[in-house]
Amino acid sequence: MSHIRGRFQKAADKAAAAFSASVSFDWRLYPHDIAGSVAHARMLAKQGIISQGEAKTITDGLVEIGQEIEQGKLQPKAGLEDIHMNIEARLIEKVGEVGGKLHTARSRNDQVALDIRLFAKEAITDTLLGLKKFQQALISLAENNKKVIIPGYTHLQRAQPVLLAHHLLAYFEMLQRDTDRFIDCLERTDVLPLGSGALAGVAYDIDREFVAKELGFSQISRNSMDAVSDRDFLIEYEAAASICMMHLSRLAEEMILWSSAEFDFIELDDAYTTGSSIMPQKKNPDIAELVRGKTGRIYGNLMALLTTMKGLPLSYNRDLQEDKEGFFDCVDTLLSSLEVFAGMISTAHIKAENTKQAAGEGYILATDLADYLVKKGEAFRTAHDIVARLVSYAIEKGKTFSELKLTEYKKFSPRFGDDIFSVTLESSLAARDSLGGSSPKRVAAALAKAKKTVGL
Ligand code: ARG
Repeated sequence: MSHIRGRFQKAADKAAAAFSASVSFDWRLYPHDIAGSVAHARMLAKQGIISQGEAKTITDGLVEIGQEIEQGKLQPKAGLEDIHMNIEARLIEKVGEVGGKLHTARSRNDQVALDIRLFAKEAITDTLLGLKKFQQALISLAENNKKVIIPGYTHLQRAQPVLLAHHLLAYFEMLQRDTDRFIDCLERTDVLPLGSGALAGVAYDIDREFVAKELGFSQISRNSMDAVSDRDFLIEYEAAASICMMHLSRLAEEMILWSSAEFDFIELDDAYTTGSSIMPQKKNPDIAELVRGKTGRIYGNLMALLTTMKGLPLSYNRDLQEDKEGFFDCVDTLLSSLEVFAGMISTAHIKAENTKQAAGEGYILATDLADYLVKKGEAFRTAHDIVARLVSYAIEKGKTFSELKLTEYKKFSPRFGDDIFSVTLESSLAARDSLGGSSPKRVAAALAKAKKTVGL
């Protein structure tokens, strides 16, 4: 722009100009840039820094520019560097020199900080909604399969039977913590930076409270140098997003395992799977794999921004322009992952026969046998030892617990009686009635509470 190039003898090198232009990716900030400029112009008029008539010309022009962009009539010009200069240039083109008054008492440094904060606030709202819908999908899968028993695992070895609903509600808890983290991050995002100028504040009698109210900010930055160079809120979002994607990736991994022939616990809906170009029998869990894979991008964005910020001297530095692409990618990736994955979860079909059979196979009730002996007066360590030897014996004989005779049990402990045969998957589940446990009673209560939390 001529008023910016005024100090220079030469035009910018072509490659250098292309290298530094951000409009190809910051174009999407236009609604926020316009909203910020409208509020700023109104404040300038209210304070008598520009006239009411000038403010009206400027704000009318800005609203029209917003429509032009929406309708695709105004396209980004890379020569104008960024979204802020594109809009300002178009304003001056439309309304004449008065358009140049908009940038009074403002710098692109506080302007861009404002725009990205407005964008981030919306992103957090969208994320919270996405999380809630995901939690609702988990609840609906749990509710539709309330009685389904699956093997619970540790070390990916069958450990103890649990209700599928209990397993799914574990993810509900993770997403509830994610929700809390995004709400917490909103607190520090919801701060107005405009009015900080380039770095030192501005030499006009501005009213920042007015602008904060116009734009819906609950707080106003207290230090202008911090305000133009603070990107903590983006880092916080990306950190919360990283943790959230880690949760989604863990669930994705389970969906992938469960839909394999080896587990065969779940059938994913056709709408969320793909075929193979060479093997006609294949039904691949691509969506789950992509969610798992995209987790890497989100971590990468967080690392990139942390590294960009490291060692930046106060205050604004052009490095900060590097915040945007990673942040946009982070928001887009998280929101689409939440949406598509929720659809996959709510349409999944659980193969309850198979999960129950898997839960019943092997010696998954070993802990319950030990608990049985404890109830008959045995010390837990001794009981553990007795059952370990019993398992070894049963494996050798090729028998399950229920196939062993009472006489065989008695060889290991005289405390075993006839009632040993009433130890079943169901009795095992019912026994886990401690707070936070997998008994049907506890899980029903947890499900009811979860539903309330997400407004179901
Ligand atoms: N495109 C820039 C950014 O994203 C806007 C601020 C430019 N400020 C400056 N002093 N060059 O950070």
